[in-house]
Amino acid sequence: MAILKIARMGHPVLMTPAREVANPTAPEVHALINDMVDTMLDAPGVGLAAPQVHVPARIVVFHVPAGRGGEGEEGVPLTALINPKIEPLDDEKEDGVEGCLSLPEMAGTVSRYARIRYTATAPDGTMIEREAEGFHARVVQHECDHLDGILYPMRMTDLSTLGYAEEMAKGHQGTNDSAEAPDD
Ligand code: NI
Repeated sequence: MAILKIARMGHPVLMTPAREVANPTAPEVHALINDMVDTMLDAPGVGLAAPQVHVPARIVVFHVPAGRGGEGEEGVPLTALINPKIEPLDDEKEDGVEGCLSLPEMAGTVSRYARIRYTATAPDGTMIEREAEGFHARVVQHECDHLDGILYPMRMTDLSTLGYAEEMAKGHQGTNDSAEAPDD
């Protein structure tokens, strides 16, 4: 087990499109995924993309604890996606508060597709195909953006909602839900 150093906004690795993984079942890919999971859980966060640990490869890990996306919303078990692809199921978008381990302590409101389908290769070489909505869909879109060099502030249309999560949780702005901003 290893906790990897997380790159912060401003480091060029976060702005660089990541390369496809040629062999998803390779031992070094599995070792990286294990270290990414350790790093994500230690942070703690709900998602992490390989460029955030200075590896420009198309790999993300995430999980959604039950209830994290809202009352009664089901959780998603720990998942690793290699070479993921996303398509929106319709045009509807939803606003939600996001955080990112590469922008520590900050949060901002981002509009994301409400419903998506995503495909990827799993570490055992099988294909993953899922439909997702709500927080699950948001996390996957946020993490896959990292693979294209996109950080969530680059998706924001109202920068007045960007701030320190601790301040926003005091109720100066937004709702108390802001305190629940995912650090991913
Ligand atoms: Ni992030």
